[in-house]
Parts: sequence; structure tokens; C-alpha cells
Amino acid sequence: MNDFAPEPYTPRVPKPFRDPSDRPQPRKREERPPLRIFPTTLWEYPSQHYDSPAMREAQKKERLLRGESPRPLEIQGDAVIGSGSMQGDKEYVGATPSWVIWQLLSRYTRENDVVVDPMCGSGTTLDVCRDLKRKGVGFDLNPQREEIRRNDSRKLPLDKESVDFVFIDPPYSTHVDYSDDARCIGKLDSGGDDGGRAYYRAMEDVIREIHRVLKPGRYMGLYVSDSWRKKRDRDGKAVKGSEFMPIGFELFAIMRKYFVAVDIICVVRHNKKLTYGNWRKAAEEGNFFLRGFNYCFIMRKA
Ligand SMILES: C[S@@+](CC[C@H](N)C(=O)[O-])C[C@H]1O[C@@H](n2cnc3c(N)ncnc32)[C@H](O)[C@@H]1O
Repeated sequence: MNDFAPEPYTPRVPKPFRDPSDRPQPRKREERPPLRIFPTTLWEYPSQHYDSPAMREAQKKERLLRGESPRPLEIQGDAVIGSGSMQGDKEYVGATPSWVIWQLLSRYTRENDVVVDPMCGSGTTLDVCRDLKRKGVGFDLNPQREEIRRNDSRKLPLDKESVDFVFIDPPYSTHVDYSDDARCIGKLDSGGDDGGRAYYRAMEDVIREIHRVLKPGRYMGLYVSDSWRKKRDRDGKAVKGSEFMPIGFELFAIMRKYFVAVDIICVVRHNKKLTYGNWRKAAEEGNFFLRGFNYCFIMRKA
């Protein structure tokens, strides 16, 4: 039985999109709809962040208590900094859309639950935890905030079966140069000469560690994308051919060794590059696909 079933609510029926390129792009803040639990396995939201009334109120109160006037708003793109309208840091390359974490925590955790993010980066998970009154614990090899502890996620400094939920958004192979730390899994190529063995071995170590710290019966979410690239020679020059790396299915297969599969969510990506005419043309002419979605795998520890 799922004792994390959400409260029933009346869904609004959205207008269908004619074509993916017609989807609204996040420009103005007014376009952010209030967050509700999504009922289907196709998740989409027009912004990286959501507006957090709870966070905004708390910040306002804190300033008033200190006898200060409400802080003037600093606007960056579609986010208003310091107002509770940004979770994590959108400038951190590879930051997770906060609403994905919000969806997971709203369904699979309760107030005061301990939520761990072993690759916490800019702290998006911690901000969502604060909004939802969960106890967020963050680790990363390249921590962007004081409260995130520097740690290799293959060995978590946590007791066995002490955690209520784990969220993780790992490097998708070598896409992003996160740090100079040699232990960064983003330095391991999932399409490398070793067939990606080092990358998947490292990720299995992380997944096994998540399994160790999670309480029985509790859940984890892993957010990831597949990868595709043109082939290059040893000097980095493009050569004929391409490589597809099914990172999602490979990680899912590893997780199934340890966890029970609960569901697979398809998360629509709102990457600006997907709308660039030259990228779309190259994909059509070169007969390849731009990556339009991420997986969010939901697993339960038996
Ligand atoms: C996709 S980013 C996570 C982004 C994060 N969820 C956020 O919203 O800011 C992947 C993170 O994994 C971290 N990382 C890579 N290898 C690691 C390891 N072995 N242990 C801990 N963190 C690692 C990187 O430093 C990077 O911050």
C-alpha cells in the first residue's frame, strides 16, 4: 500500500500544444503556475524554479524583525533573487529543476523527514526541503554553499538505514566540467574506450551507498538524461559517425539490482538550445535527435 498517496485535487485541463516549439518559454515571472502534484508520468513546467510563498514570507518576516525594510528585488531572467523565487543557483551549470524535486518530496516524504542529496551542487534540494519542512542534508565534491559538506558520494558519512528519501542528479558522463577534483564522476566517459565501465562502476558504488543509508520501505529519485555525440578522434577532431549512450536505461538496470522499481517519469526539458533554429536544422539534416526529456526514476528499498 502506498501511504504517501497525495491529497485528491481538481486538476486544471491544459491546452494541448501543437508542436514542441510552440511550448511557452519562461520569460515573465507571471507565467509560473502554482505547483500541484502531477498526476501522470509526463512532467512539464515552464520554468526551472517555482515561486515559494513560504520562503518569501519567512525572509520578509526575518528582515522586519531585524528592523530592516523589505529587500529591493534583483531580477535575473525569470528569477527574482532573494525573494524565494529561485531554488539552488540557476548559474550553476547542471542545476536541477527545483520543481522536479518538489514533486518527488511532495509524494514520497512527510514533514521532518530526512532527505539526502549526495550530489547537491548548488543546493536546490536543500531549498526545496526548507520550503516543504523536510530536513535536507547535502553533500558534493564541489559544494557551492556552506551547509553542503564536501564528500565523495561513494561513501556517505551516514548511518545505515537512517535516511527517509534520497534525491540524486548525477553527472551525465563528461558533459560538464564540475571541478578539478579527480574523484568527480563527471570525468568518467560513459562512451569511453572502456565501454563506459568506469562511469557505471562509480555510479553503482553511489547507488549501493544510497541503498545502505536509506530506511527499508522508503524511496529514492534519480534524475538523468541519455547522451548523444558526434565521434571524435584522439585529438578531439570530429570524424564520421556518432555515439548514443543510453545512460538512463543503464543506471535503471543497476538500480534494479538493489531497489524495487516504482515508476519512470519523463520530464520535458526546457533547454533554450532546443529552440535554436540552427540546432533544430542540424538535427534534421544530420538525422539525429536533440535531447527533449530527462528520466526521473523512482525506486523503493524493499
Ligand atoms: C548535475 S550536478 C547536480 C546539481 C544539483 N542537483 C543542483 O541542483 O545544483 C552533479 C553534481 O555531482 C557532483 N559530483 C560528481 N562526482 C561526485 C562524487 N563522486 N561525489 C559527490 N559529488 C559528485 C558534481 O560536483 C556536481 O555538483
